[in-house]
Amino acid sequence: MDALAALRLQIEWGADEALDETPRARLVARAQVQPVAAEVAPEVQPRSLAPAARPALVQPAPVQPAPVQRAPVQRAQDLAAAARDVDALRAALASFDGCALSATATNLVFADGNPASGLMLIGEGPGAEEDRAGKPFVGPSGQLLARMLASIGLDRSNYLITNLIPWRPPGNRNPTDSEVQLCLPFLLRHIALVRPKRLVLIGALSSRALLGGTAGITKLRGKWASAVIPGLPGPIPALPVLHPAYLLRSPGAKREAWADLLLLRRTLDGK
Ligand code: URA
Repeated sequence: MDALAALRLQIEWGADEALDETPRARLVARAQVQPVAAEVAPEVQPRSLAPAARPALVQPAPVQPAPVQRAPVQRAQDLAAAARDVDALRAALASFDGCALSATATNLVFADGNPASGLMLIGEGPGAEEDRAGKPFVGPSGQLLARMLASIGLDRSNYLITNLIPWRPPGNRNPTDSEVQLCLPFLLRHIALVRPKRLVLIGALSSRALLGGTAGITKLRGKWASAVIPGLPGPIPALPVLHPAYLLRSPGAKREAWADLLLLRRTLDGK
């Protein structure tokens, strides 16, 4: 029973997959383990209560103030701004330890497709398959998205695809607001470096992150909006669309999704 309860708890916490044959404490491996006083000075511990046997007290070394850490959002902004090209941005993101999601994810999921296509699709965050493969939209919802885009003649040579959050949130939970704030500078820089002509915002999270406001995706979808990206001379046309994961759960919404695809196709054709 105990083992079953422990397994249930693990699943609730998002450990819903076996990645290795043997367990590995990956968080411990990453932590900067500080030696504790008892380990460095065992000989100063009194061995007997007899006063004569007690060793002299050792003065503890003065505590050094920890180096001032720039707030993680500021560090994310600085790292992203310093990236001069997409490869540098990817490396900066891979080195960024300010977002706890990077510690629980298997892989960084950066982007896939054609950066020179002029069209950039932005989803929410990787799921289990994307986390394993290190590529966006390769799982069930990604396959549905690929079929939908193929129906208007688009494959990954016609667009670049990425996510607002580049690491899988455990158990596919929604990212928190602070996780979004930590990842957004990298996405904004990615857009500024790639300079796409148009954006497609897949789902509510990426739509709100790039357009602002709190409107739901059913309000936002179906019409082009404008995304203001720091570092670019003008706003970029952005089309919010329903997320394919939502379409898998609510197939009745495919009618709206189809209307959005046709709108995208007409715009790409200049009609
Ligand atoms: N859902 C997303 O938003 N992004 C992915 O990469 C996969 C599923």
